[in-house]
Amino acid sequence: VTVDASALRHHGDVDALPGLVDLAVNVRPGMPPAWLRDRLAGVDLARYPDQRAARAAVAARHRCEPANVLLTAGAAEAFVLIARALAPRRAVVVHPQFTEPEAALRAAGRHVERLLLEPPFTLDPSRVPDDADLVVIGNPTNPTSVLHRAATLRALVRRGRTVVVDEAFADCVPGEPESMAPAPGVVVVRSLTKTWGLAGLRVGYVLADPPMVEALRAVQPHWPVSAPALEACVACSAPDAVAAAGAWARELTTVRAHLHGLVGGPAGVEPAASFLLLRTDRPASWEPLRDKGFAVRRGDTFPGLDAQWIRVAVRDEPTSIAFAHALQECL
Ligand SMILES: Cc1ncc(COP(=O)(O)O)c(C=O)c1O
Repeated sequence: VTVDASALRHHGDVDALPGLVDLAVNVRPGMPPAWLRDRLAGVDLARYPDQRAARAAVAARHRCEPANVLLTAGAAEAFVLIARALAPRRAVVVHPQFTEPEAALRAAGRHVERLLLEPPFTLDPSRVPDDADLVVIGNPTNPTSVLHRAATLRALVRRGRTVVVDEAFADCVPGEPESMAPAPGVVVVRSLTKTWGLAGLRVGYVLADPPMVEALRAVQPHWPVSAPALEACVACSAPDAVAAAGAWARELTTVRAHLHGLVGGPAGVEPAASFLLLRTDRPASWEPLRDKGFAVRRGDTFPGLDAQWIRVAVRDEPTSIAFAHALQECL
């Protein structure tokens, strides 16, 4: 495969030009809430960050031990640590998916193979080569919005293989039934970016078995996560915050079904995240949509997709209706 590194590094924030209705970036609008802003503003910036409370809070939220938790400067940092710490002989990235894991592996000099799923983007675990010792998959997946079953992901686990599950959008799914627990051979990557509107804070974490956590920590800079980001971990892991996020996930189900009803999507895909993937009749429909005031995420920089695909964030129902009109006029 000839790899266009700049395409791998393209993200929706570049598509979201000022003045457009932003359907390109999947961060929940109106966030962070005032109570969370206040918590962050109250943090003592003069002290070096102390991770203990944040690790304990994240562990309690995911019913595991602090030794299972590695706090990171966003999910993006986790992919860099994985690429540095592991030296896979055969790394397989399941695409289409978020491109930073592959970009990080390549930047660390790792050879990467792509497993390209076709619509409806369901995974048959037997398509992953037996000798793959690193497999990276998103759940639910950006940009397809497909939710893989935990049983399907567990079928990938075997001795001598690390399965990385990018769960940056897992909290879009009410109750998170398909979320993976930290276990030998499983590395779960999570983020506070999307649900809590903290893209600028850079905060996420890894859930893994303690030896893996230590291996990743060994290649991490000292004080990797800022004190406000640690405060966000404590605040967003509290039961009330988790319950609030769960309530939002249930509301999301309704507004997403409305948008899905208006614009459709690939046959057989039941979208599960805060965005939809659409195949349009014409290539580069993001251009006329931009002229109509909407920024959508172009699809063609995702391995396995072409210029007829766009990804659209789910917003409120009036926005969905306006977008559906604009899309109809463009096609
Ligand atoms: C699937 C997925 N994983 C991870 C990330 C990165 O998250 P973070 O902001 O925590 O680095 C993104 C951001 O777009 C994403 O879409």
